[in-house]
Amino acid sequence: MAPSFVRARLREMAGYTPGEQPLAEERVVKLNTNENPFPPSDRVMQAIANIDRESLRRYPNPTADAFRAAAAKMLGLTPEMFLAGNGSDDILTIATRTFIPPGGTLAAPDPTYSLYPVLANLQDAEFVSVPWGEDWSLPTEALLATKADAIYLANPNAPSGTFVSPTRVAELAREFDGALLIDEAYVDFAEDDCLSLLRDHPNVMISRTLSKAYCLAGLRFGYAVAQPQVIHELMKAKDSYNCDAISIAAATAAISDQPYYKEKWEYVKQERQRLSVELMQMGWTVLPSQANFILASVPDGRGREAYLGLKRQGILVRYFDLPGLTDKLRITVGQNHQNNALLAGIKALTETPVAA
Ligand SMILES: Cc1ncc(COP(=O)(O)O)c(C=O)c1O
Repeated sequence: MAPSFVRARLREMAGYTPGEQPLAEERVVKLNTNENPFPPSDRVMQAIANIDRESLRRYPNPTADAFRAAAAKMLGLTPEMFLAGNGSDDILTIATRTFIPPGGTLAAPDPTYSLYPVLANLQDAEFVSVPWGEDWSLPTEALLATKADAIYLANPNAPSGTFVSPTRVAELAREFDGALLIDEAYVDFAEDDCLSLLRDHPNVMISRTLSKAYCLAGLRFGYAVAQPQVIHELMKAKDSYNCDAISIAAATAAISDQPYYKEKWEYVKQERQRLSVELMQMGWTVLPSQANFILASVPDGRGREAYLGLKRQGILVRYFDLPGLTDKLRITVGQNHQNNALLAGIKALTETPVAA
């Protein structure tokens, strides 16, 4: 039983459930948590190797200015428009503290990233789940009707991989009085992004991560982009030293090494297309994805059985026991050989049906 001195709200809520992380020595085909299948670039490893003792003895730069300068250069913006975080989960936590008062409301089109309701709970706020429109279109009117303090929009969305055009998002930003956080964790695998909205919409904030596109999920580094006056307020809500010296150096090297990463994004996009086509040829339904994963419906509708059957073969994908998702698997796009292993694993499932 939870101790009585713990906040009632916390005792009652479920925490966030991360995807399985097998030990490094376990030989599995790991397509369950949307990591990049490639290693970080040499420049990143060099930056980590070059860390001197003195920079570990001292506190790090509290605002990760080296990273902000490099990110600003890469995106053609000013450093004052950036806030660095310990992964984009940290950015989302900071945003929730900044925009949503206790007793306030956070709304999001749902299904989406399952951390959002957890953050609302921790803030003693309400989470209002607004069903996506037909074909995963943005439910603008229903979102506005919530009169929420903030709307969080994952774009591309997880777990669907679907993308809402910047024009549609701009309409929502224009109509909405609260803060609109666009979570662009997967945007480097998409055809467009919402950065241009920042100029005309002071209520828009974008969060990004180095976990997916920059092959650095283990490092923990993310960032926010918004108008300087918004960043100024967000800064007040962060932990004093939320990014460590090693991660600042490595993330700065990563964001400055665009050619290496762009090549990897192209690879993933091509494999995403191939995997989608091959699954459809096997009778699966696959949503058009602009992320580094796909959401695919199992032909017999038995998502859980398919997930377990693949797991028995050492292939990890993500299954969500949630309304609307029980016939589906979310599959991270891996390298060619990993995707082939997945396809072979699926063929083996249908050849030897797995007991429920
Ligand atoms: C939509 C979305 N946003 C944010 C994150 C968090 O990424 P990180 O904290 O690794 O930067 C994830 C991770 O899965 C995600 O799916």
